[in-house]
Amino acid sequence: MALAFTPLHPLFVAEMSGLDLREPMSRDTIAEIDAAMDRHAVLVIRDQPLTPEQQLAFTRQFGPLDIGFARVGAKRKGSTRTPGYMANMTNLGEDGKVVERDNGRILGNIANQLWHSDSSFQQPAAKYSMLYSVTNPSWGGETEFADMRAAYDSLDDRTKAEVEGLVSEHWALHSRFMLGDTDYTQEAIDAIPPVEWPVVRTHPGSGRKLLFIGVHARRILGMSLPEGRKLLMDLLEHATAPRHVYRHDWRVGDLVIWDNRATLHRGRRFDLSEPRQLRRTTTLDAAEPLEQVA
Ligand code: OGA
Ligand code: MN
Repeated sequence: MALAFTPLHPLFVAEMSGLDLREPMSRDTIAEIDAAMDRHAVLVIRDQPLTPEQQLAFTRQFGPLDIGFARVGAKRKGSTRTPGYMANMTNLGEDGKVVERDNGRILGNIANQLWHSDSSFQQPAAKYSMLYSVTNPSWGGETEFADMRAAYDSLDDRTKAEVEGLVSEHWALHSRFMLGDTDYTQEAIDAIPPVEWPVVRTHPGSGRKLLFIGVHARRILGMSLPEGRKLLMDLLEHATAPRHVYRHDWRVGDLVIWDNRATLHRGRRFDLSEPRQLRRTTTLDAAEPLEQVA
């Protein structure tokens, strides 16, 4: 069956149908999905029964996998996490019950509610994230996506000229410290140095310019801290204006794939005492895996 793409938003996002994600794909199919990602930046695929292993196998066909924040979270004091390629975006503990409010998982859930691009705090960063819905709360818990190409295009000319050539510093713990989560050893902090990214990037697949920002960006090089932070805040506000945003209302069995190089995303608030469970797999924006992952 041929793939079909139905737009879900005037700027980006399409629903993809005609594929059973459990089946291995031909090179042509992978190329077709890559081309659709370059164009739409977010793809929604409904009604996919997927085991964690099947999700990993599907994801691997698009490149080496990313461990992402688990690498950092495992260094939080008291953490017993083993970083792996499957990220459980959940408020459920190992016993299947909702964890206490002071559990590290809750912090992760809340940090995900800030606009970000996955793994922008490392180089290489994330390319595609694939999030699969297992359990949804009765209210809230949607995921929103913002189109950073449209965000760039709609800047006024003066601002475009101002941001051209700027470089920002992204740090894995910036959002955590902002939320009051400072319980990391000095060793952990030293092990996660910030990385630098241009504020304006050109997408390799679409050739479109875009804003590469989000909550991991903590300063702009060559600018005072307050001036740089306020500029980043203003850009983020512009970039995530409602006209640039698609809100995904999860149904169990949905898989949503987004390009972290073209979009920002955030989870929406929900009742933290109700179960919410999503599984994420992620590819690295690189041909080869990261050497040092743990
Ligand atoms: C993620 C993420 C948001 C959400 O999985 O990378 O940010 O809605 N999730 O859970
Ligand atoms: Mn994320």
